[in-house]
Amino acid sequence: MKITAPKGTRDILPSETPLWQLAAKNFAEVCHNFGYEEIRIPTFEDTNLFQRGVGDTTDVVQKEMYTFEDKGGRSITLRPEGTAGVVRSYIENGMSSLPAPVRMYYDITAFRYEKMQKGRYREFHQFGVEAFGSKGPEIDAEVISTVDIFFKKMGLKNIELRINSIGCPNCRKAYNEQLKDYFRPHISTMCADCQNRLERNPLRMIDCKVDGEKDIVKNAPRLIDHLCDECKEHFEALKTQLDAIGINYTIDPNIVRGLDYYTRTVFEFVSKNVGTQGTICGGGRYDGLVESVGGPATPGIGYAMGVERLLLELEAQGAAVAPKKNVQVYFVAMSDNAKDFITKTCYDLRVNGIGCERDLMGRAFRAQMKYAGKANIPYMCVIGDDELASGKLKIKNMTDGTETEVEASGLVAFFEGNGEE
Ligand code: HAM
Repeated sequence: MKITAPKGTRDILPSETPLWQLAAKNFAEVCHNFGYEEIRIPTFEDTNLFQRGVGDTTDVVQKEMYTFEDKGGRSITLRPEGTAGVVRSYIENGMSSLPAPVRMYYDITAFRYEKMQKGRYREFHQFGVEAFGSKGPEIDAEVISTVDIFFKKMGLKNIELRINSIGCPNCRKAYNEQLKDYFRPHISTMCADCQNRLERNPLRMIDCKVDGEKDIVKNAPRLIDHLCDECKEHFEALKTQLDAIGINYTIDPNIVRGLDYYTRTVFEFVSKNVGTQGTICGGGRYDGLVESVGGPATPGIGYAMGVERLLLELEAQGAAVAPKKNVQVYFVAMSDNAKDFITKTCYDLRVNGIGCERDLMGRAFRAQMKYAGKANIPYMCVIGDDELASGKLKIKNMTDGTETEVEASGLVAFFEGNGEE
């Protein structure tokens, strides 16, 4: 039987990982510049966390979680996202006593049992941030600008920022009643999910993806028209902040997001390239989440971006270039006599942080030369009896063919500063 990768997973091959590493490095750098520190959370959590945190009327909790009982009879779920785990950790580790805002970023895998398509997987990766303790809107604008600056660093262009406000429990109470009144006459023709959500969580109905229901949803009352004064003020102030920075955005009243914890600011960064899976990054404010998971009332905001979608977009735009391999020089042995010298020389270079390679396949001289010609390594150095006797080595630049003579004792100095960081 042929064993293949499970449906919805994919290997990230060595030809692809340099770009992943570049993205992770740039993301971390941007986060550090804003005062965010990295958090690493478990891959699986108590199932209750997601039911309470993400919300049990969401598609994620109702249909997409990888939930199982462990050998101790506990219900465990592979994290479908990072926010709930970070919030759990914030509470469990008493981070509310730290000076606010507490700002963290993460680079995680996440798991959702979804229909596989381009840009949508069952195991995927997210870069994300979460910031606790500030009501905003300045921090909302900062959080959004981390994404903007990261995209710039990666050379990504033409990604549209869409923002919306979905208010607070106060403005939502009256709005929910209006939504129910609006949907009730249509409900018998609507899907089972909508029927289930009408009384429990009518806002979720706005997110319905069923084709035949799009018109009904499109004409529903919009929360942005029913915000309370404070939420309205918060949203206006966020727009002023974004205008001050010069970040372009459009207001999209249809963004409600697929998870239940959001309040006030919600936003998405959307591309036209990644087919139907165009949302590269999504996030928002969640002022009630910490409390609902058992912590002290603490406002919060964050986002996550899908790394697979980010890379598909980079590829489509031909934007970021993966860094070159770190190997600087390939040593060719003219005869067996040179092998011990090469072994020691490679060790000395590597211990000084300089990448090098040598033959490990018992190839003859000609075959080693051929390999070096194709290996895409910037320099080659042939070691024969003359080199062994004189200690003078010829370093050939494989791009322009020039040769430089270097004392064996000066090799480290020659290559220092040449390599990629
Ligand atoms: P989300 O919108 O569910 O939000 O996911 C964020 C991003 O993860 C999406 O925009 C998409 O790029 C990527 N993504 C989601 N599902 C998949 C999938 N099946 N395959 C590939 N990529 C996917 C959250 O996860 C929230 N935790 C974001 C957040 C953080 N809000 C506040 N803080």
